[in-house]
Amino acid sequence: MVNFDHLYSDRASKMRKSEIRELLKVAQDPEVISFAGGLPNPQSFPIQDLKVIVQTVLNNHGKVALQYGTTQGVNELRDEIAERCHKEGMTMGASAENIMITGGSQQALDAIGKVFLNPGDIAIVGLPSYLGGINAFRSYEANLIGVPLDEGGIKLDLLEEKLKDLVKQGMPVKFIYTVPTFSNPAGTVMPESQRKKLIDIAHEYNLVIIEDDPYSKLRYDTSSIKPIKAFDDEGRVIYLSTFSKILAPGFRLAWVIAAEEVMRKLALSKQAQDLCTAPFSQYVAHEFIKSGSMDLHIMRICEMYKPKRDIMMNSMKKYFPEGYICNKPNGGMFAWVTLPEQIDTEVMFLDAIKEKVAYVHGKAFCVDGGGASSMRLNFSYSTNEQIDIGMKRLGAVIERKMSVLCR
Ligand SMILES: Cc1ncc(COP(=O)(O)O)c(C=O)c1O
Repeated sequence: MVNFDHLYSDRASKMRKSEIRELLKVAQDPEVISFAGGLPNPQSFPIQDLKVIVQTVLNNHGKVALQYGTTQGVNELRDEIAERCHKEGMTMGASAENIMITGGSQQALDAIGKVFLNPGDIAIVGLPSYLGGINAFRSYEANLIGVPLDEGGIKLDLLEEKLKDLVKQGMPVKFIYTVPTFSNPAGTVMPESQRKKLIDIAHEYNLVIIEDDPYSKLRYDTSSIKPIKAFDDEGRVIYLSTFSKILAPGFRLAWVIAAEEVMRKLALSKQAQDLCTAPFSQYVAHEFIKSGSMDLHIMRICEMYKPKRDIMMNSMKKYFPEGYICNKPNGGMFAWVTLPEQIDTEVMFLDAIKEKVAYVHGKAFCVDGGGASSMRLNFSYSTNEQIDIGMKRLGAVIERKMSVLCR
């Protein structure tokens, strides 16, 4: 057997396993009801629509769709996305030249890490934050500093304090990474006033905002909110969104919007990664939008997920012992639950698995080692019946833990 250890780069040696991927392995037991993954419901996949669309793409665009494409992506798709962005209020800096189609938002996060981060550079993330973002930035050896969230997203007073402090210490920050709308994992939405203030703060400290927005279309109660990018007249915000939650993650299709200068760097980075995103997928996604299927599909997904969210919240009330905190998420796919501080959800995970229910423990999302008594629950993947049964199992696990630890 070859020992490769001395051959790896320093960077590879520091890469960490994704805790979620490891957990998903355990949660794959068919008897386990898993609230752990971030998976869309497979019943929502628009398979019938896609059968027709794929045929249309092959008939109308077969020769280009099956060829290599340009790095930034298929023009028709970028034009369509640009038009939609304008309708959402992104009137500055969201034209086709500023848009690149990527192999999922995860690829864009990696490219951002590659383009902006030297080893040791500081980036700010929320406490808690999306694990895939944390892992992407860590793989470039970033020094990630967390700022707590409340129900309105990242706490801006604490952010300002932190930035001031870091400037004093001569430690400038490169960017702030945020999921401001139905965040993963916390389910929170940053109000418009905070979005504007965040732009002002970024201007004052001359840093970039990475706005990661996979969930804004999955809205169950509230009216839509403009993205942070809509308030950006300087090109400071790099905006990411994805087809993973509004079409299917198997397409591995997303888009990034950035100022032209940044876009040139991101495109160079992508060229080295994969030359281009699969043109065939891009043509299918374009036809999916153009035919009107996507808007209908988003409505259908919301109709499917809203009752799931409600069942989860009701089951929580029914089965969880008093003492937990969970704000009802108005959209997205996740509920964030905090239990009394005596409970460590990472330790409790083993009990949960024995009872055939899974979640992701809060520490996985917190770069400061906090979040120990919290957990993320996904409500999009399981059937309605499974959600109720799974929550009952989880409630019993929590009750037992609390009876021992919180007497
Ligand atoms: C906040 C956030 N960003 C990025 C991603 C990755 O999305 P994609 O499937 O487009 O790579 C996810 C997936 O769950 C996510 O929740």
